[in-house]
Amino acid sequence: ALASLEARQILDSRGRPTIEVDVVLADGSHGRAAVPSGASTGTAEAHELRDGDPARYAGLGVLKAAANVNTEIFHALKGMDTLDQRRLDDTLREVDGTPQLKRLGANGILGVSIAACRAAATSLKQPLYARIAELAGNPAPQMPLPMVNILSGGLHAGRGMDVQDFLAIPASASSVEDAIHIASKVRNAAAQVCAQEGIPTLLADEGGLSPGCQDGDHALRLMIRAIEAAGLRPGLDVVIAIDVAAASLQQADSTYRLAREGKTLDADDMIAMMERWVHDYPVVSIEDGLGEEDWDGWAALTTRLGQRVQLVGDDLFTTNMQRLRKGIDRHAGNGILVKVNQNGTLTGTLDTLAHARSKGYTAIISARSGETEDPFIADLAVGTSAGQIKIGSLRTSSTVCKYNQLLRIEAATGFPYSGIGALNGKGA
Ligand code: PGA
Ligand code: ZN
Repeated sequence: ALASLEARQILDSRGRPTIEVDVVLADGSHGRAAVPSGASTGTAEAHELRDGDPARYAGLGVLKAAANVNTEIFHALKGMDTLDQRRLDDTLREVDGTPQLKRLGANGILGVSIAACRAAATSLKQPLYARIAELAGNPAPQMPLPMVNILSGGLHAGRGMDVQDFLAIPASASSVEDAIHIASKVRNAAAQVCAQEGIPTLLADEGGLSPGCQDGDHALRLMIRAIEAAGLRPGLDVVIAIDVAAASLQQADSTYRLAREGKTLDADDMIAMMERWVHDYPVVSIEDGLGEEDWDGWAALTTRLGQRVQLVGDDLFTTNMQRLRKGIDRHAGNGILVKVNQNGTLTGTLDTLAHARSKGYTAIISARSGETEDPFIADLAVGTSAGQIKIGSLRTSSTVCKYNQLLRIEAATGFPYSGIGALNGKGA
């Protein structure tokens, strides 16, 4: 039973306030969780409660969200059986009473949900991934295929490029350890190639490079050169994923503004551009290729490229069951990005993930661009056998702690590795 609950304000990897929660059970078992925060957020995401006090952290403080956990939420959960994660999470939603968890704040609520899961795992003397596997009804945990951030632009790098992220997927790897090694070679080679070309390589928010390429083709050529410079074969050893984050390019009239290129595109032009990328480069996965309300555009994109390419909805679905159902009905995309803080509770996240997989959508467990040293999503990816994980680059401790947790789990368990098969044959 839940004996104490304590939330506090800590800092995330961008130096912005976020929530950390400690849960202690009556048997003394302890669980802690820290909550991440996005920059290119979807409108339908669960609500991150910020203080709005300009005198503290430019209004980004989370003292109110912490206080809500320490008072109202604690009173509602005190004495509750944390082994019943679903009941706990349902109670959190009921206490808040709003669909986007606006009243008490999804940041505090998610912290409680995850910390309670950890405390339960401790109490049951289970590794966290095993506890999650049990909650997910998954008898066979698997190690996920990583997609690793190499180049960033958009809201992750001062809009130095229009497209937000270019990622490397180590296609020929046979384990997470092998995959991380391959991705590390590409990350290092990309820095070298940039240096040779005199391109500044400042660190972007997720630990990738921010080369400020003027268009997608330039960034993709850089990716190919980095893969080759690492002694690897593009298309065989390493394939490419792109996060367009098109919602952050969309204007009031629904057109897409590529500011660096000086172009304004409609959905058809965007689709044609992506089709060219897929034709010219080993691109196997495209995330948020169109905006979050462009359902017709998404359906057209999926008709055009969905057989060959993983088309991932991030801002489109926001790990939200209603939006996912709508997307499935309208044949929008064939994959979902899963972010716990978009949903707001662990149970809600597991339900959305399970529904996506039951409908044949691929799933990628994802970090946010503002992260903490909490490696929870590594265990989540393994415990759910989601197949894929997107953590960021191989730099900065908030990112690396999650890769390290995957390495620990793989070494301890020898669980099978999903590998490139996690893409359901896309990009083959
Ligand atoms: P975010 O970025 O956390 O800033 O939303 C990650 C992503 O877009 O996938
Ligand atoms: Zn995204």
